[in-house]
Amino acid sequence: MRLFAALMPPDEVLDEIERAIEPHVGQVPGLRWPDRATWHITLAFFGEVPERVLPELEVRLARAVRRYASLDLAFSGFGAFSSARRARVFWAGLSGDPMIRLSESVKAGARRAGAVQTDEKRFHPHLTLARAKTELDLRPLVESLSGFSGSAWRAESVHLVRSHQGAQVRYESLAEWDLAPAEHD
Ligand code: 2AM
Repeated sequence: MRLFAALMPPDEVLDEIERAIEPHVGQVPGLRWPDRATWHITLAFFGEVPERVLPELEVRLARAVRRYASLDLAFSGFGAFSSARRARVFWAGLSGDPMIRLSESVKAGARRAGAVQTDEKRFHPHLTLARAKTELDLRPLVESLSGFSGSAWRAESVHLVRSHQGAQVRYESLAEWDLAPAEHD
């Protein structure tokens, strides 16, 4: 099964993003905008994981997650992979430093459990909003959204998510673990 770990931002924060992008949705030829119900922030991508690995994976992830405090985050603007000029993925970015160590630990735990296809690309925290089959020049879109900055929010848990591939990709949360309480509270 295809699995990844993710953070799920609160609805109010997603509302802000939805309002910001609304004038553009469906307006850029070649850009496809998945349903808001699929929005998430990938913390670690595990690829195809044999079903027999799942119990051990859950134990390892639970252990990794509880060692970290809740994360204070904010969406801080929009961008694209691999660049705004040659874009295949359009995203909302986060001020993400505190996520990197958690992401590394979650990945390391998954590897120890036997999920060996973990993604080795440099971690760049983002929430994918749209995808293109061919590279598009999204500089005008990114520029028109440059004034955006989202409200602060706190990520308090990590989800293990299963991706069901098909004509319409579907995500199923298999488990959710709480991060430790934030240190300064
Ligand atoms: P993306 O949003 O940038 O496409 C489920 O596929 C989630 O895992 C997506 O959020 C996707 O990121 C992320 N992911 C990270 N690495 C991936 C990979 N090598 N293949 C597919 N999805 C990947």
